[in-house]
Amino acid sequence: MRLKTRVAVAAVAVGTLLASAACTTSDNSGSTPKNVEVFTWWADGGEKAGLDGLVDQFKKDCSQYTFVNGAVAGGAGSNAKTVLAQRLTQSDPPDTFQAHAGAELTDYINAGQIEDLSQEYKDWGLTNAFPSGLISNLTVNGKIYSVPANIHRANVLWGNKTVLASAGITQNATTLDGFFADLDKLKAKNVTPLALGKDWTQLMLFESVLIADLGADKFTGLWNGSTPWNGADVTKAIGDFSKLLTYTNKDTRDTYDWTDAEKLIMTNKAGYQLMGDWEAADLDAKAFKDYNYTVFPGNTGTYQWLADSFVLPKGAKNAEGTKCWLKTVGSAAGQQAFNTKKGSIPARTDAVASAFPAYQQSAIGDWKSLKQVPSCAHGSACSQSMQGAFNTAMGKFSSDGNATALQSALATAASQFIKK
Ligand code: GAL
Repeated sequence: MRLKTRVAVAAVAVGTLLASAACTTSDNSGSTPKNVEVFTWWADGGEKAGLDGLVDQFKKDCSQYTFVNGAVAGGAGSNAKTVLAQRLTQSDPPDTFQAHAGAELTDYINAGQIEDLSQEYKDWGLTNAFPSGLISNLTVNGKIYSVPANIHRANVLWGNKTVLASAGITQNATTLDGFFADLDKLKAKNVTPLALGKDWTQLMLFESVLIADLGADKFTGLWNGSTPWNGADVTKAIGDFSKLLTYTNKDTRDTYDWTDAEKLIMTNKAGYQLMGDWEAADLDAKAFKDYNYTVFPGNTGTYQWLADSFVLPKGAKNAEGTKCWLKTVGSAAGQQAFNTKKGSIPARTDAVASAFPAYQQSAIGDWKSLKQVPSCAHGSACSQSMQGAFNTAMGKFSSDGNATALQSALATAASQFIKK
């Protein structure tokens, strides 16, 4: 598709999304508003199942209010964030929206778009309910601005067991070299060795390669300015990433969402996919059982985390209803109802592991014992502007393969957006 046509199609798509989002903001005309519009990108599969779990709990806890689903489909908020930004600019916020803990949340705080929830934390006994590191990612100048619903892990490799076995892969590789050897075995079987989607999913894959090549500490330094983006280790990682791209679905990757790439796994057309652990919930929701999972090769000992949280926007039509939603989100019952279905683990430290499916049980243990690093693709490591610049650079590299241009685009974006 030519660029002009693509821009036009995107504009129509966003227009349609805005119109449909506006329609969901239904009647709130009485003196006490009832509707609580909850804005997310959890529209299908495991993501929707997680949201539904939370909504069931909200209906019990907050029966005086009515949940209104403002979801806008598209992995990682690729469409939702555009719609949300426009609504915030037009002073038409939903009653609450999903935001990632860390730098992404700081964007909304700095723009003065969300309310301080410090008093609610005290009133609801949340101050000591979450890990202190997470609390500091939700806090600016001593004030806390959102309620976390979960912790997701990004650096997970999902495999189709039958496809892997047919290529003679019985054990998952733990190094990049071992992984390349396995990808060659899959290639020889005429399947797509590594299923991949568009820009943000490519950034996720690249981040996992950076963790493998730089190690956890230097990787974290990439996001706070202490590790340079123009170093030889990043050059090596770009080389490894470039080699990985040769094992992916070249013709479709730049148009695929993560669920399209996942479909290649589910239909025995691909061996592996790197994706966050929302994939566990999604495969379960779609009743696909023939999968296994492991940490991405070279990432052993590292938990790349991100957390979904909910906020009270300034000017929300139903602030009291939103507070009821937020209280449910932060409650033990709400976190269990949500995370059992979402593939993530509760952000609360009092969660009982045995109450969760097998994947989450292992993740609860890993979260406590492994080294934690943030994710730029999902807002814990970088601002939305930096994420946008990185996604654009990844998409460009996917089509032109120019490694020098990629590294220089990343270094330029980092120097522009990281405040030291
Ligand atoms: C992330 C979000 C997850 C999941 C994923 C795929 O940004 O934190 O909860 O929804 O996108 O859409």
